[in-house]
Amino acid sequence: MIAVEGTAVCGAAWFRLFTRETARAGYVDDSTPELVLAVNEGFRRAGIGSRLLDELLRRADELQVPRLSLHVDATNAPAAELYRSRGFEEVRAASKGVVMAWARPGETILPGTENRPLWAWGHEAP
Ligand SMILES: CC(C)(COP(=O)(O)OP(=O)(O)OC[C@H]1O[C@@H](n2cnc3c(N)ncnc32)[C@H](O)[C@@H]1OP(=O)(O)O)[C@@H](O)C(=O)NCCC(=O)NCCS
Repeated sequence: MIAVEGTAVCGAAWFRLFTRETARAGYVDDSTPELVLAVNEGFRRAGIGSRLLDELLRRADELQVPRLSLHVDATNAPAAELYRSRGFEEVRAASKGVVMAWARPGETILPGTENRPLWAWGHEAP
């Protein structure tokens, strides 16, 4: 998903599947797409990141994607705050940050049971 203003590209967001072999820092498992979001510096704090994220979560819901994950740097409090406000929760520590996950309404963040401990996804980020 691309945000544009006139001819300027303001930001982009997507989610896609990875495998253990192709895993990035926010990988949790082969069936959970990883989300990426970025807004160009000159366009930040104008609601574009929120809109991209909301639209992407709407699309994930529409496609019946049960969960999404992402990696956020420990120094990136604004992004973590934005994700938390949309229902993402921290699921494990990763190199230089945390992995967060989101679940579609009716699904649980950690699959299987509602009571699995935080950090249940034990494998380390690549
Ligand atoms: C994180 C990012 C996508 C936010 O995009 P944005 O268009 O500026 O976000 P919005 O204007 O929609 O703001 C949404 C919320 O994010 C938080 N936020 C964003 N920038 C912030 C900042 N500089 N300081 C504090 N909070 C901030 C706030 O909670 C804000 O809500 P509010 O405006 O109601 O306070 C953008 O800063 C970015 O691209 N950063 C670099 C790339 C990145 O970090 N991507 C995420 C990697 S996981």
